[in-house]
Amino acid sequence: MIRHFRRCAPALLALAAACLAPAAQALEIKLPQETAKLHPGTGPGAQGASLCLMCHSVDYVSSQPPMPLGFWDAEVKKMVGTYGAPIPAEQVPLIVEYLNQAYPPAPSAAKP
Ligand code: HEC
Repeated sequence: MIRHFRRCAPALLALAAACLAPAAQALEIKLPQETAKLHPGTGPGAQGASLCLMCHSVDYVSSQPPMPLGFWDAEVKKMVGTYGAPIPAEQVPLIVEYLNQAYPPAPSAAKP
């Protein structure tokens, strides 16, 4: 019996120490300030595209490789339709126009 206790004692002590330890502090996480910006553009879509940044950083947009023509159209519709982006319907074609201009499609795909 004593032998058995000796074997378990360190584990029991560790358990007791864990229970007596002060409660874990709430973890505070400071995110760095966002510095990336949307590419400059003209037209009303350039302003409307700031709506794209309410859920994720601009890196989601700027890290895309050149995509086939039609990519931005499908992408904006996916953001609205699938992810519920609250972007007014009349803004959608304007933002797509801006994205096609500021983040142009791959040259080979751009030809009609
Ligand atoms: C309602 C929130 C929301 C808004 C607003 C939004 N997105 Fe997204 N976006 C998402 C989510 C969620 C994902 C997927 C994230 C993941 O898979 O990690 C995503 C992913 C992306 C991606 C990565 C490729 C992909 O399809 O997953 C791109 C590019 C993108 N968004 C562009 C845009 C553009 C352009 C706009 C503005 C027209 C926009 N987003 C607005 C939620 C949003």
